Amino acid sequence: MKAIVVHEYGPPDVLKYETLPDPEPGAGEIRVVVHAATVNRVLDVALRAGTQAHRKPAFPFIPGVDCAGIVDKVGPGVTRWKIGDRVAAAGRMPLASAPEDWTLDSRDGYSGATGMMGIKRPGGFAEKVCVPACAAFRVPEPVSFAEAAVILRHCPTAWNLLFNVAGLKAGEWVLIMGAGGNLGSIGVQIAKHVADAKVIATAGSDSRAQSALALGADHAVNYNTHDLRDEVMRITGGKGVAVLYDNIANPDVLPKAFHALGERGRLVTAGAHGGPNVMIDFFHLYDRKITIKGQPGYKPSDVPKCLEAAAEGKIKVQIAHQLPLKQAADAHRMMEADPGMGKIVLSPTL
Ligand SMILES: NC(=O)c1ccc[n+]([C@@H]2O[C@H](COP(=O)([O-])OP(=O)(O)OC[C@H]3O[C@@H](n4cnc5c(N)ncnc54)[C@H](OP(=O)(O)O)[C@@H]3O)[C@@H](O)[C@H]2O)c1
Repeated sequence: MKAIVVHEYGPPDVLKYETLPDPEPGAGEIRVVVHAATVNRVLDVALRAGTQAHRKPAFPFIPGVDCAGIVDKVGPGVTRWKIGDRVAAAGRMPLASAPEDWTLDSRDGYSGATGMMGIKRPGGFAEKVCVPACAAFRVPEPVSFAEAAVILRHCPTAWNLLFNVAGLKAGEWVLIMGAGGNLGSIGVQIAKHVADAKVIATAGSDSRAQSALALGADHAVNYNTHDLRDEVMRITGGKGVAVLYDNIANPDVLPKAFHALGERGRLVTAGAHGGPNVMIDFFHLYDRKITIKGQPGYKPSDVPKCLEAAAEGKIKVQIAHQLPLKQAADAHRMMEADPGMGKIVLSPTL
């Protein structure tokens, strides 16, 4: 098979397009013919450059922290999947043989090491990849493989933050930061079309704010041309929002958004790439009885709900470019050249 192999940290040129033997699925594993794998700023570009202090791959490695495609071989003991099934897998999973019904939710039946595909085990930048059967999710028919890969990458984290961490309820006001970005654009859609909340989206440009309106936001604010707190207070009739969904920690913008949180407001976040240090007004915090919760990751049991919401058309992923696998280095160059670059998906079948 063809695969992208990284032998050393360095510029995009270190992503080598090589020929390797097909991987063989071990006990409890399935082999997937990869149709799509996402390219990510932190988990691919920064990892390849060697600037990810707390994520260390063992060289040589095949990157790609997710994959979506078709099962073409099952390993010993696998009954859950058969050849031809449409599946997707992403993120942290067992590194050794695990029961096919094991989940990160319960952790029963496997006490071995776990790690991310594309970092601690071979990733999705390949024509074929083996993943534990327990880490795969069925991709419903209307959802394309490119969409499924993006859904797995961003949607469960957004879902977890809004439902499990913030406890967002129908009819509540939510302020979505970075609404033109990955977690932001998915957050807008989950909040509006799944939770039935009232959504205010904010972004640093008119075009990113407009894109959130197109995804269903009730209001959008460009924080560079308007005072974010004043706008949110005007829109909510002085009440403020119940939930502030951040994931950026922009030191210029988050303090204003924080002041737009109302009584018993909840700030939730899984990222800090625009910070990490932000001034927080503790008077507002205690006076309004606000809760701040940081929570990366997600519940695997929420992943099928995300894929179902995509199948029902409630969540539409934003894909900027789909490129053949051999253009992985170009994809990294494009991301490095444009910080606003949307999602790039590599498709080994193109
Ligand atoms: N699966 C996931 O998606 C996942 C899981 C766990 C954690 N995270 C973390 O969550 C965060 C958001 O991920 P993402 O994929 O949604 O990011 P993204 O799409 O690359 O960026 C989100 C938004 O952040 C703002 N931004 C970008 N660079 C910035 C900078 N240098 N300073 C200030 N603001 C900046 C932009 O919004 P403006 O319009 O405001 O400029 C952008 O639209 C990251 O820190 C990521 O590591 C993501």
